[in-house]
Amino acid sequence: MKTEIIKLLKAAPDYVSGQELCETFGVSRTAVWKVIRQLQEDGYEIEAKRNRGYRLGDSGDVFTGAELRSLLNTRWVGHNLVFLEQVDSTNEEAKRQAEKGAPDGTLVAAAEQSAGKGRRGRTWISEKGTGVWMSLLLRPDFPPECASMLTLVAAMAVEKGISRVTGVDGQIKWPNDVVIEGKKVCGILTEMSTEMECIHYVVVGIGINVGTEEFPEEIRDLATSLYLSTQKKVKRAVLAAAVAEAWEFYYEQFLKSGDLRFLMEEYNERLVNRGREVKVLALDGGYMGISQGINEKGELLVETGGMVRTVISGEVSVRGIYGYV
Ligand code: BTN
Repeated sequence: MKTEIIKLLKAAPDYVSGQELCETFGVSRTAVWKVIRQLQEDGYEIEAKRNRGYRLGDSGDVFTGAELRSLLNTRWVGHNLVFLEQVDSTNEEAKRQAEKGAPDGTLVAAAEQSAGKGRRGRTWISEKGTGVWMSLLLRPDFPPECASMLTLVAAMAVEKGISRVTGVDGQIKWPNDVVIEGKKVCGILTEMSTEMECIHYVVVGIGINVGTEEFPEEIRDLATSLYLSTQKKVKRAVLAAAVAEAWEFYYEQFLKSGDLRFLMEEYNERLVNRGREVKVLALDGGYMGISQGINEKGELLVETGGMVRTVISGEVSVRGIYGYV
C-alpha cells in the first residue's frame, strides 16, 4: 500500500482526500494516516490539511524500497526487490537470496554497506546516503565464459542511466568503470556461482557515487561522485530505477544475440582511452599499445608492435600512460 500511496500522491495535481485513499485501498482512515506518518518518517514532505487531504511536496532524496518500487518501469528486473537500510554488501545479500531461491532479475539495493566490496579484494566505500549500492541477481542459461560480458553490459546501462538522469554523458573505462571528467564515478563487481560448467547464478554489483562530497586522500585524484562532477543533486531512487531500466533493455538484447555485437559501437564511442596509448598490466609482464576498442566478445583490442592483441577482462588491468585513464 505504501508504494501505491506514493504513486497516487505523485500523480495527483493537488490534495488527495483521505476518503479517496480509504476507498481506493479499502482501509480505515487510521490505517491511511499510519502509512502517511511512515512516509513522512522516510523523508517525504507530505502536507496534511483538514477537509482537503494530503499533498506531496518536493521530497528530496528518499531512497527506500517503496520509492524505488514506485519508480521502476521494468517488465521483470527488480520486480522482486530487496531493499535494506544497511547491509554488509549487496553482492553478498544477493548471493544469500540466490541460495534461498530468489528469482532471476531480483534486485538488492541498500542505503549503506558496512563491507562494500571492490574488485581485487579492495574495499568499496559505501557510506549512508551517498550512493546507489545495488546488485542484480541473474540466472542465465549461457555458459560461464560468457559472464564477463555482463560487466560491459552493466557499464553501458549505468552510463545510460546517468546520462538520462543528469544530462551528462559519461565514459567507460574498459571493462567496467564509468568515468566522468577522467575520474571513476561507478564500479562494477560481477561474481558467479557455477555448477558443472553451468551457471547457477550471477550477481552483478553496481556502485555509483552519487552525493559524496569528499573522498579519502588516497583516492581523491581517481574517484568522483555525480555531485562533485556535475554539481547536480541526483535522487538515488530515480538513478537506480533508470539504471535498472537500461540494464533490462541491454541485457535482453544480449540474451538474444549471445555476444556484444549489438553494443560494440555504442560502447566504443564511450570508451575513454580509445585511440590512445595504454599500458596493459598483466601478471606475466606488461606492454604498451594503442587501445582500439572492444570486439564482439568484449575483449579489448590493443595494437602493439605491428600486431593487434586481444586483452581479456579479469586477467589484466589497463591504464592510461599518465595514470588511471
Ligand atoms: C570496483 O570497481 O572495484 C567494483 C566496485 C563494486 C561496488 C559495488 S557496490 C554494490 C555491490 N556490492 C558490493 O559489495 N560491491 C558492489
